[in-house]
Amino acid sequence: MAPPNSTLRIDPHRFQRTFEELAAIGTTLDSGVHRPAFSASHQQARQWFFQHAVSAGLEVGIDRASNHSALLRCGSPWSPTLLLGSHLDSVPYGGRFDGALGVVAALECLKTVSENHLVLGTHLEAIDFTDEEGYFVGFLGSMALSGQLEAEHLQNARGARKLFLEKLAELGLSEETLFLARRDPASLAGYLELHIEQGRRLLDQEVQIGIVTTIVGIRSFRLHFLGRADHAGTTPMDRRRDAGLGASAFALAARDLVLRDFPGAVVTVGNVDYAPGAFNVVPESATVSLEFRSDDPGRLEAIESALLAQAAAEAERFDLQLEVDGLDSTAPTRLDKGVQETIARACEILDLTYTFLPSGAGHDAQIMAQICPAGLIFAPSADGASHSAREFTSPEDCRNGTNVLLQTALLLAEEGI
Ligand code: GLV
Ligand code: MN
Ligand code: MN
Repeated sequence: MAPPNSTLRIDPHRFQRTFEELAAIGTTLDSGVHRPAFSASHQQARQWFFQHAVSAGLEVGIDRASNHSALLRCGSPWSPTLLLGSHLDSVPYGGRFDGALGVVAALECLKTVSENHLVLGTHLEAIDFTDEEGYFVGFLGSMALSGQLEAEHLQNARGARKLFLEKLAELGLSEETLFLARRDPASLAGYLELHIEQGRRLLDQEVQIGIVTTIVGIRSFRLHFLGRADHAGTTPMDRRRDAGLGASAFALAARDLVLRDFPGAVVTVGNVDYAPGAFNVVPESATVSLEFRSDDPGRLEAIESALLAQAAAEAERFDLQLEVDGLDSTAPTRLDKGVQETIARACEILDLTYTFLPSGAGHDAQIMAQICPAGLIFAPSADGASHSAREFTSPEDCRNGTNVLLQTALLLAEEGI
């Protein structure tokens, strides 16, 4: 017998309109979006989310980590809440789908359930997590909500800490209040997230939906190569302590090392800051933003040791000092098997093809998975492009993904996890 509500579908036209309204906030000339956490455009997107939710008759709320939620009480008063979400922040000059798709899809699911007056075994909450992209602190909102945030994460913000504190203060928040966002896991039935794949496996295999099995662990560091500023014209090449050379040599060596010794893992030097930073001054310091990922905890540890040893070797080679700040660290995460099977059932109900695959990108689902059953659904990404304005997922793929989110939520809410 078909499960109850298995014929329910989202309104694709309303979904598309809503998605485009959001994409206009913080839009860039090349049709991407620029919505770094706590920026004016990010705050505007969050206000839009609230206005939209209120006009759909949903309750809204902000917690002490600035996570924004829309709530539909469709269970009994003592029911737990099933969270559906993602994030409205973007990387600097990113794409319009990363995170946004999951939030718009969550809103559309709540609207569909609400207008059909369904009574379920759980309440439904659409949640927009704060700073998923780690402009300041990676997964800030989900770490706070799940009780995993620690003072150390805040001390070692990836973005400028002073600006981070100012942004919190503007919102009437502080580092201390962030910890008050913690929610009792017993109050949560689970967490579901729809996201673009950000790779090209679904496209290449001509499959409509991805069901994520594991999510990579990510570690990030700031490395300071410290040398000596000197005149660029009068200091002989063999008398320099050029911090820029240490950083550059490290970036190339890190790539070779990971390709050679850790196939499948990835390493990125995403930024290098030279100081004083002038044509005619040998760099006194070079600050490297280093990030690496693997789905294997043991390898993550081994990569860290190998990369830090390499950085020390390059520092020595160019007569530099090396200082290392450890920043974010998330563990590789296996997602709940039962939820994966439920997503597969939803795909079957909808007659959509699906495959199981790991995620090389980080997601709030990996943080939420530490405290409740969590599931992650992928929609195909054109050309596999992401973290760039080239991100694109067709309206049909967005609609399919949102219907899978809806049907999965209904199955979980009706049958439990
Ligand atoms: C988030 O998008 C990440 O994987 O960096
Ligand atoms: Mn992202
Ligand atoms: Mn994302």
